[in-house]
Amino acid sequence: KTVFVLNGPNLNLLGTREPAIYGAQTLADVERLCAAACARHGFALRFHQSNHEGALVDWLHEAGRLHAAGTLAGVVLNAGAYTHTSIALLDAIKGTGVPLVELHISNVHARESFRHHSYIAAAARAQLCGFGVQGYALAIDGIASW
Ligand code: DQA
Repeated sequence: KTVFVLNGPNLNLLGTREPAIYGAQTLADVERLCAAACARHGFALRFHQSNHEGALVDWLHEAGRLHAAGTLAGVVLNAGAYTHTSIALLDAIKGTGVPLVELHISNVHARESFRHHSYIAAAARAQLCGFGVQGYALAIDGIASW
């Protein structure tokens, strides 16, 4: 089965972006970490990042087609700031029914109040935040336990 790991806006800047909050590891490091976690569980990995909301919607639809075919293990979505704004992502998750982990590198609840609300949460099967980039591996381990 396949795991989709989808990353939203500004996550391409990992490593140099506010390292006190997001750490020193790059998105390429995150992809390697996800590949290792998927390999441990025998999952294939689709790993993507986009700064464009619609691209994330399109990948959720693609994951939905795998879900319908019975070949999707789950989706890990770090929607970045779209978490706090995007009804389109919420609708895509609801519309496809994909089993999804909402992931944040930082503990969003310990930050500005505008990061406390998530549109994704209502459609996510699970939420994980505050573990740094290691959270991606934990999310994949969680998907393996479903
Ligand atoms: C984030 C938290 C969001 O509030 C922020 O906009 C991001 C990253 C995180 O991984 O901690 O871009 O999703």
